[in-house]
Amino acid sequence: MKICCIGAGYVGGPTMAMIALKCPDITVTVVDMNAARIAAWNSGTLPIYEPGLDDVVKQARGRNLHFSTDVAGGIKQADIIFVAVNTPTKTYGVGKGRAADLTFIESVARTIAEHADRGKIIVEKSTIPVKTADTIKTILASNTKGLKFAVLSNPEFLAEGTAVKDLQNPDRVLIGGERTPEGDKAVETLVGVYARWVPRANIITTNLWSSELSKLVANAFLAQRISSINSISALCEATGADVDEVANAIGMDSRIGPKFLKASVGFGGSCFQKDILNLAYLCESFGLPQVAAYWTSVVSINDWQKHRFVAHIGRELFNTVADKKIAVLGFAFKKDTNDTRESAAISVCRDLLNERALVSVYDPKVPAEEIRADTLGQGVENPRLTVAKDAYEACAGAHAITIVTEWDEFKTLDYAKIFAGMPKPACLFDGRNIVDLAALRKIGFKASGIGKPPAGRP
Ligand SMILES: NC(=O)c1ccc[n+]([C@@H]2O[C@H](COP(=O)([O-])OP(=O)(O)OC[C@H]3O[C@@H](n4cnc5c(N)ncnc54)[C@H](O)[C@@H]3O)[C@@H](O)[C@H]2O)c1
Repeated sequence: MKICCIGAGYVGGPTMAMIALKCPDITVTVVDMNAARIAAWNSGTLPIYEPGLDDVVKQARGRNLHFSTDVAGGIKQADIIFVAVNTPTKTYGVGKGRAADLTFIESVARTIAEHADRGKIIVEKSTIPVKTADTIKTILASNTKGLKFAVLSNPEFLAEGTAVKDLQNPDRVLIGGERTPEGDKAVETLVGVYARWVPRANIITTNLWSSELSKLVANAFLAQRISSINSISALCEATGADVDEVANAIGMDSRIGPKFLKASVGFGGSCFQKDILNLAYLCESFGLPQVAAYWTSVVSINDWQKHRFVAHIGRELFNTVADKKIAVLGFAFKKDTNDTRESAAISVCRDLLNERALVSVYDPKVPAEEIRADTLGQGVENPRLTVAKDAYEACAGAHAITIVTEWDEFKTLDYAKIFAGMPKPACLFDGRNIVDLAALRKIGFKASGIGKPPAGRP
C-alpha cells in the first residue's frame, strides 16, 4: 500500500511519521509545495518542534517515510491520499474573519483530479466545515478520465506539544464515510491502517457529516472550558477566591472532570479560535443565530482575558507602562511547541507596545525574527520591541515580568537574582499560574496571578 499526504505541516508531518513508524510495509510520502519546509523535513533540524518527533522521523525517514515537493508524483503513486493542508479563517469577502478559507482544499482536489490515473481513497485530515466532502467529491467526479474516488473524513485530534504521545496512543480515531458499499470498503481500508496500533474499540466510524462536525465541536467544547474558567478567574480576583482551588473543587466532580480547567492569559493556537468562528458561521448560515452567538462568546471572553491581563499590568504599574521595560517570558502559544499562531503573547506584546512600553521577549524555541514578524508585521521595525537570548537578559532592569507561556524553565529561574537587578517596586504577572506567588512575594516581588487573591488578602 502507498500513502501520500498533501501538506507537511504540524498535522501532516507528525501523523504521517507515526503511520510510517507503525506500518513499515506501507510507503508514506508527504508532499508540500513549500520547498523550504520539505528541505527541513529532510534535514537534521525538523521544521516543527515536538518532543519525541525527531526520534520517530529518524526511524522511518528513508525507509518508508519520504518528504518531497513532487505533489503530482505523490498523487499518482498513492492508493490513499490524505489532505492535511491549512484551512485558515477567511481574510476577505463573504464570511471574512469567520468562515474557513477553503482555497487550499479546493486546489488540492483539482490537483488530485488532474494527476490521478486510477481511483483512490481521499481522506480529509484538515479541519473543514461540515459538508466540505461534498465539494471535494464534486470536483473529483468532474475528472475527465471517468475515475471514481471515495472521500473519507478522518479529523486529527492531536494537541501540539504532545503530538507524538497523542498519535501513539490516541483517545480515539474518528473515520467518517459514505454509507454505501464503496464507502464502507474505503472506511475499512483506513480502519485497517490505524488498527495496526490503535485498539479497534478506539476507532469510531460514523457518517461523513458527523465526522466533519465532531472535530469542530470537540475544539469548541475544549475552548469553552478554558473560557469558562477564565471568566471565573475575573470573579476570583474580585472576591478573593483562588481559581486553582475552585478548578480543583469542581474538577473532582466526575461529571465535570479535571482537564482543561487551568485559568490563563487566554488560549491561542491555530485551531480553537478559527474552528469556533467557523462553527458559528456555519450556524448562522443554517439559520441558527442564537447558537452562533453562544459559541462566539467563547472567543469574545478569550479576547477580553488577553486585554484584561495587560490592563491589570497597567494599573499595578501606577497607570502607565510608557518607557518602562516589561519582560515577556514565552511567546509560543503553549509550552513544548514552537508554534506561535494566535498566541496570547502576540496580543500582550501589541497591547504593551500600544502603551509605549519597552518590551523584551524571550522564548526558548521561537526565533527572534518570528517574534518580531508576529508582533509587528513582516519587515516592520519598532525599537521598543527587543528579543532577549535568555530569561535573565529579558528581565534585567525590567519594571515588570510577565509569564505568558508555561515553559517549565520559568518555574525554576533564580528569581532572587532577577529581583536584585530590577527597579523597585518589582512586579511579576504570572499569566499561567506556574510560579509560587507566596515565595516571590517573600523575595519582595509585587506578584500576581490569574484568578489569584491579591497579596495581603486572606
Ligand atoms: N496544528 C494542529 O494542532 C492541528 C490539529 C488538528 C487539526 N488541524 C488542522 O489540520 C490542518 C493543517 O494544519 P497545520 O497546522 O498542519 O497547517 P500548516 O499550515 O502547518 O501546514 C499546512 C501545509 O499545507 C501546505 N499546502 C497548502 N496548500 C497546498 C497545496 N495546494 N499543495 C501542497 N501543499 C499545500 C502548506 O504549504 C503547509 O506547509 C488544518 O485544517 C488544521 O485546522 C491542526
